[in-house]
Amino acid sequence: MSEVTLQIDGKEVSAKEGTTLLEAAEKLGIVIPTLCHHEKLEPYGGCRLCTVEITLRGGTKLVAACLYPVEKNLVVRTRSEKVDRIRKMILELLLAHAPDAFELQDLAKEYGADKNRFAKESSFCIHCGLCVRYCAEVKKANAVGFVDRGARREISFIPEIASRECWQCKECFPLCPTEALQAAYMLTTALFAHPTSPKPIDS
Ligand code: SF4
Ligand code: FES
Repeated sequence: MSEVTLQIDGKEVSAKEGTTLLEAAEKLGIVIPTLCHHEKLEPYGGCRLCTVEITLRGGTKLVAACLYPVEKNLVVRTRSEKVDRIRKMILELLLAHAPDAFELQDLAKEYGADKNRFAKESSFCIHCGLCVRYCAEVKKANAVGFVDRGARREISFIPEIASRECWQCKECFPLCPTEALQAAYMLTTALFAHPTSPKPIDS
């Protein structure tokens, strides 16, 4: 696969065609914040926190770095007034769901996001999909999925599968940027305890 040269935050970098701006930035040691990205998973582009500004053929636009492929002569800015404003807004919206999530709080500090800007929503899940996709794509277990749509969307463990697969695994727990995942699992094991199920997780 051939390489292309582009510029990120004023530094030149060569990257393989087909790789993303996020990967090219990593090569330079430039950190772009992400919430729904995981190197073992297919690109998703759900949270848009990785938004960066690109200039190509005279025009500028905002793109998701975890999805956008490297291009020859592309000029990328990972921080700009526009980029920071968008990240701040995204964080404020997500903090309405999960105001106590440490990962969001750290990012909020960096981008000056106000966790009280939007009315609080009851769900603690920020719909990054990491748990659902990891369970499906890496573990091939499909023990956790999304239920409902829109604002009512939330994750749920499928009791019959979870009772068989999750007790030994729990690899999705550390992926969750909020506490929603572990809480949902606890609830599932409590509500659907099966005589042959393993015991709920230790607290
Ligand atoms: S439970 Fe956590 S990991 Fe799963 S979708 Fe919600 S925020 Fe993401
Ligand atoms: S990390 Fe790129 S959209 Fe979520």
